[in-house]
Parts: sequence; structure tokens; C-alpha cells
Amino acid sequence: MNVLLTGGCGYIGSHVAVVLMSAGHEAVLVDNLSNSHQTIVDKVAEIVGRSPAFYQGDVGEVAFVRNIIRRHRIDAVIHLAGFKSVGESVQQPLMYYQNNVCGALGLLQAMEAESISNIVFSSSATIYGDPQYLPVNEAHPKHVINAYGRSKLHIEDMLRDICISRPSLGAVCLRYFNPVGAHQSGLIGDHPRGIPNNLMPYVVQVACGEREFLNVFGADYPTPDGTGVRDYIHVMDLAEGHMAALKYLSSNSGWHAFNLGTGRGYSVLEMIRAFERQSGRTVPYRLVARREGDVACSYADVQAATFELNWKATRSLEDMCSSSWLFQSRLSTE
Ligand code: NAD
Ligand code: UFG
Repeated sequence: MNVLLTGGCGYIGSHVAVVLMSAGHEAVLVDNLSNSHQTIVDKVAEIVGRSPAFYQGDVGEVAFVRNIIRRHRIDAVIHLAGFKSVGESVQQPLMYYQNNVCGALGLLQAMEAESISNIVFSSSATIYGDPQYLPVNEAHPKHVINAYGRSKLHIEDMLRDICISRPSLGAVCLRYFNPVGAHQSGLIGDHPRGIPNNLMPYVVQVACGEREFLNVFGADYPTPDGTGVRDYIHVMDLAEGHMAALKYLSSNSGWHAFNLGTGRGYSVLEMIRAFERQSGRTVPYRLVARREGDVACSYADVQAATFELNWKATRSLEDMCSSSWLFQSRLSTE
């Protein structure tokens, strides 16, 4: 299968490229490099033994995307391109609607013009807001509280509408919980620009001495140790979920949404301890006030993905921590 991967140079996209190509498919990466580097293409090639096609450009540019679809005889699209910082989306909502929603709109127009019927979309557990019950299943009410989450929900709704208008179309929205970890080679991983917003890349940078200590946001949540609980999922398990979604689309049309998580939660302090065990480093931390917009606890009901996609996360918390550390260690020696 020839698969167009938008955002293919990013953290998750590069792992999806590896999984796809390792399974014998062709991955065509489209990325404007706004949050990634072209060197990722070589790293993916080093892992899989052949190079993916790569085009630098914006996913919202209809003519550009149509040309790529035609040239590579694309069969399906995995749409990962987008901005993902919650805080930034609160400060600059229009930038998020422009890039995420208008980007998806252009891509969908290009797909329609070229009669491409299958799309897998990177959605997020953030659309559920503060969980009303746990574990969170796909039917949980949607309660977005920032422009990032709303951009994801808008795109899910656009996909729902076009599936109604074209019954042959298939769209799978994958609602990721908290992706962490890296490919076992340590060649690709999460390498955010600037100060990391997310827990794991921050922990890694503290462990290697790039930052002095971690701020643990809130120790007074109604959780066993008072710190926030999340469903951390290994990025390779997540990437394999995309393969499962593509397979599902080969025999199912219409609009579908699936949670991708492990179904269990770990607290911030549990994550720190697990990381310390795997890396042999100490992670100094300070307990500080809650971060605005954070929820106490969130973890997925993964029944739908288990039974309908025939997919399950298999990698452990130890794998998540050790692969993150290997990636950082290789980066430090580059
Ligand atoms: P990332 O920033 O590493 O990757 C996104 C890639 O898209 C980057 O390489 C960026 O350069 C590219 N891009 C952005 N806008 C573009 C545009 N208009 N045209 C072309 N390329 C563009 O992020 P990631 O963590 O790999 O996330 C991938 C997707 O998964 C995003 O849509 C994100 O919202 C979603 N997601 C991520 C998480 C997470 O915790 N990482 C959680 C839930 C959902
Ligand atoms: N945390 C800290 N210190 C930090 C960073 C995070 O204590 O420096 C805590 C948070 O308070 C939270 C937990 O670690 O309790 C996880 O925080 P992340 O920022 O890593 O992840 P979030 O659950 O806040 O959000 C992530 C992505 C969102 C996505 C969501 C659900 O950033 O884009 O998962 O998929 F929508």
C-alpha cells in the first residue's frame, strides 16, 4: 500500500513511517518542518533499510498535495500534521484554526479531487475534557476547553460530515492518550524544540543534566499520591495502532473513533521512579502548584480498539522509560 503520511517527520509520524515500511508498505512523508527536521528522513531510512519519499510543504496546499497523491498512486492517508501545544493554542487560537483546521480542509479537498477514500486521523484524548467517569470510553461527552482540542473536534466533525456525503469513504479518528518512549534503536524519538511542555521529555532533560529539576504540577489531586495520573502509551504501540486502523479501513467504510491507550494510569511520581530505575539517574523534582487546565486523572477504555481493530498495547512502562533514555543518550553523543 502507498500511504501519504502528513507530519511524517514529527515524533509520532516518524514511528508510524517505520512501522509501515517495516511491514512492506511505502510511506510518502509530507511535512513543512515547522516542528521537525529533515534529518528524520535519513534516520527512518537507517532503521528500515530504504528511504521514504519526502516532500517539504504545507498539507493545506491542495495542488501540492494532489500532485503527490497522483505521483505516488496513494491508496490511503494518515493525517498527523498539526500544531499540538495546548498553552500556545490558548494564546494564539487563530494560528491553531488556520494550521490544524484549514490544513485538514485542504488535505480533504485534495483527497476528494483525487478520489482517495481512506483516512486515519490523529485525534486526542483532550477532546473528552475533565473525565466524568473512568475509564474514558469513546462515547464519553466531549468537552473541549482550548483551541487545540476544539481544532481536533472540528476535524473529527468534518470527517463525520464527509463520510455521510460519500458513503464509500472510510475515516478512523484515533484518540491518543499520552504517547511516550522511542524506537528501540534510539535513532528517533520525542525531541521538542525549546522547553518541553510534556512530562517525559522534561524528565529526560533533567536526568541528563540539561535542566536542574522537574516541576511536578500539583500534589493535591484526589489520586493515590496526589499527583496527576495519565495513560502513557509507548509510541511504537501507538504507531502499530495506525497499521491496525488502515487494515480496518480495508473492510469498513464510514466514520469511526477509537481510543489508543493502555487502559491503565500512572502518576507523575510513579513515572519519575520508573524512569530513575531504567536510566540509573536521579530526577530531582519540586512539588509546585497545579498547572491550569490539567485534569486529575485520565485513562482509556480500550475495549473498542481491542475488539474492532484487533490491536492492543503490549510494551511496558519500563520499555517506555528505557527507550526514551536510549534516544536521549544517542542525541547527547551526536
Ligand atoms: P510533532 O510536532 O512532532 O509532529 C507534527 C508534524 O507536523 C511536525 O513534523 C510538523 O513540522 C508538521 N506540521 C505541522 N503543521 C503542518 C502543516 N500545516 N503542513 C505540513 N506539516 C505540518 O507532533 P506529534 O507529537 O508527532 O503529533 C502528531 C499528531 O498527533 C498531531 O496532530 C498531534 O496533535 C497529535 N497528538 C499528539 C499527542 C502527543 O502527546 N504527542 C497527543 C494527542 C494527539
Ligand atoms: N507534568 C508535570 N510537570 C511537567 C509536565 C507535566 O508535573 O513539567 C504533569 C502534568 O501536570 C500531568 C502529567 O504530567 O499530570 C502529564 O502531562 P503532559 O503535559 O505530559 O500531558 P497532558 O496529559 O497534559 O497532555 C498530553 C498532550 C496533549 C494531549 C493529551 C491527551 O500534551 O496534547 O496528552 O492525549 F491532548
